[in-house]
Amino acid sequence: MTAFFTTQLSYQQFLDEYWQKKPLLIRQAFPGLDPIISPEELAGLACHEDIESRLIEEDSDSGPWRCQHGPFTEDDFARLPEKNWTLLVQDMDKHVPELAAITRQFNFIPEWRKDDLMISYAPEGGSVGPHTDGYDVFLLQAKGTRRWQVGKEPIQNPELIDGLALKILVDFEPEESWDLEPGDMLYLPPHIAHHGIALDACMTFSIGFRAPTQTELLDSLLHIASEQDSFGQQRYEDRDLQIPIHDNEIDQASLLRFRQTMIDCISQSDEWLTSAIGRLLTETKPSLEWLADELMNEDKDEVDFTSQFDAGMILKRNQYIRVAWASLGEDVLIFVAGEHNQIEKSITECLPSITGYTSLTNQDWQKLQTNMAAISALSYLVSKGAWYWDSEG
Ligand code: SIN
Ligand code: CO
Repeated sequence: MTAFFTTQLSYQQFLDEYWQKKPLLIRQAFPGLDPIISPEELAGLACHEDIESRLIEEDSDSGPWRCQHGPFTEDDFARLPEKNWTLLVQDMDKHVPELAAITRQFNFIPEWRKDDLMISYAPEGGSVGPHTDGYDVFLLQAKGTRRWQVGKEPIQNPELIDGLALKILVDFEPEESWDLEPGDMLYLPPHIAHHGIALDACMTFSIGFRAPTQTELLDSLLHIASEQDSFGQQRYEDRDLQIPIHDNEIDQASLLRFRQTMIDCISQSDEWLTSAIGRLLTETKPSLEWLADELMNEDKDEVDFTSQFDAGMILKRNQYIRVAWASLGEDVLIFVAGEHNQIEKSITECLPSITGYTSLTNQDWQKLQTNMAAISALSYLVSKGAWYWDSEG
């Protein structure tokens, strides 16, 4: 894959010129796109208690822009008006693994940057109102036509309509308006105001990304710190101390020393910093934990790979569990579901299969089984539920 969908841009040009910078409309990015699921099936999934869904009505009996959270019932759908509502269902790439083929098309962006594929269904007039999002998104039209109105400059702290459960902009002045047909796609960087109105019954796929905040990163580092006696024990030092002008003042020189102490603490150990980052990025979304557990084998610690593969079993990736890895000197840190393990670097050539494939067959195992580090990493990932045994097919 070198061309950025149907544009003349290379993926790197897209990243250089548009990613996190400005919107891009791509006509027929996915020509002949098969939405894989129907609006009825989407509504069916929104009735499942472990699936995150929302129903947004522009003019409900209880006032404008009502937002209800699922699970829903058939009656909830039966009472809806003909127009002006939207059903949104999160994590569809995990609930319907065939849909992950769409998010895989975005592999020019790291896997750990991806959040989920959200699918919305709306009859004519349906929208979630003009708003901004804090993350990058590709809005792929899967069915029907949606008019996307888009602002120009990012708005960091927009003024919102008071008293609503939804964050709707008080003022929205679109700079552009595009009608997206099935297969068309719009990329939006964070904080760009947008408003998508269904011109007829339509489904939109939102491929959303995620980026941790500084607080989340620091919190993860502090969590590691709590497990290490030697973390952050260096005290404030002031060998260059001058007689203070005011003895109660924390003066600029002292503030700079404190700042440096904190920077030194963060930079203290590559291992702790890498662990904190990897653990944070692979944590399982709380709303998906139950579904993740449901796919795990009961005897996760029993791993006689050869006999299992010989018996015709295959390993399948548990799509609810995140996996990532990072090099650390002579080792590799493997992260899974917010935990990690340190493995020898000789594993590197096996990492694409044991962390990236969707299934592992006996044939894959033949290549892995000569590498002790790979066996150890795979055992670890199976024990954490990232892979589960299933009968072939
Ligand atoms: C929608 O699909 O209607 C909303 C998606 C979004 O604006 O992020
Ligand atoms: Co949005």
